[in-house]
Amino acid sequence: MRRFLCLLSLCWGLSYCLSPKNEKLDAEWEAWKTTYGKNYSEKEESFRRQVWEKNLKLINDHNRLFKEGKKSYFMGMNQFGDMTDKEFESRLNLRIAPVRTRRNYTFKRRIYYRLPKSVDWRTHGYVTPIRNQGECGACWAFSTIGSLEGQLFRKTGRLVELSKQMLIDCSGYYTCMGGSLTGALDFIRRYGVVSERCYPYMNGQNWWCYRRQCPFVRIRDYVTLPSGDERALMQAVATVGPVAVAIHAPPSFRYYQGGPYIEPRCRLSYMSNMNHALLVVGYGPLERSKYEEFGLQAYMHKDNKFWIAKNSWGEQWGDRGYIYIPKDRYNQCGIASNANYPIL
Ligand SMILES: *[C@@H]1O[C@H](CO)[C@@H](O)[C@H](O)[C@H]1NC(C)=O
Ligand SMILES: *[C@@H]1O[C@H](CO)[C@@H](O)[C@H](O)[C@H]1NC(C)=O
Repeated sequence: MRRFLCLLSLCWGLSYCLSPKNEKLDAEWEAWKTTYGKNYSEKEESFRRQVWEKNLKLINDHNRLFKEGKKSYFMGMNQFGDMTDKEFESRLNLRIAPVRTRRNYTFKRRIYYRLPKSVDWRTHGYVTPIRNQGECGACWAFSTIGSLEGQLFRKTGRLVELSKQMLIDCSGYYTCMGGSLTGALDFIRRYGVVSERCYPYMNGQNWWCYRRQCPFVRIRDYVTLPSGDERALMQAVATVGPVAVAIHAPPSFRYYQGGPYIEPRCRLSYMSNMNHALLVVGYGPLERSKYEEFGLQAYMHKDNKFWIAKNSWGEQWGDRGYIYIPKDRYNQCGIASNANYPIL
């Protein structure tokens, strides 16, 4: 039987031959499949099970360190549990096209020193609910649209979810295979974008661009922040609203479930590429209650400053869809490297 398993697995990857499945996890595996609506062919099932077990072990090992106070954040199993690292990396796919700067952001020291210690645009109605980009590498569309939704709210007082699918379908080569923030903004500047309700998200799987008789939201231009300058990002977030940012997401990002994301692999020296995009919706110290909830008081004394960032991987990922990335710590995860927002 083992041999048979191995032969089947060969087509998926040799490394999995060595680990037969742990029957104690049968119930957990079935529950996970139900939760995420997974239904595999018989052939694929044994392979996916082994990938899932390996990932579960990684999560449990990390969480053991977290309990010992050696990690600041914890992980949880989620929809990515049956994917290999390679598969996941190909999902994370932000192509940073040459940055076209149309307007450069101006940092003003005088303003910076008077900025509030914390800002959270979610509590002011600027931010739409967490969505799930699914199988489509469209982080660039979710992030850009999020920034536009905020600016639209700022101008009109109405929070309207705008169409990501339209950007994916209509903006040329920016597809489920990745895109760029300034590319998306350029498209919106030229053509505008309609509401989510008018042009709903189809997991990216739509393939053509349709004409829609709906009101278009238009922008006059967009602004690019000075690369790597967290003070400028702080000024923009505080005085303008949510800002779309590119980041480098290391492997641990995939199972992040809560706590301050202090991750050595997010230091600049580790960053080879920017592969993901988020929406910075605020910043500030993490509330005491968050630390207490997780028994993390030991982490409170140091620079307790974080960017609050919205992801597009559903509410099951992270802290109800959000992540806390250390702020003013040498541009962690490259959060200030490529930041942009539209002007209405
Ligand atoms: C899983 O897929 C098979 C074949 O496509 C189908 O016959 C079966 O009903 C599906 N099961 C569930 C629970 O969706
Ligand atoms: C913005 O700044 C960059 C880098 O300093 C520069 O190359 C670019 O020409 C500037 N763009 C505009 C529109 O001023």
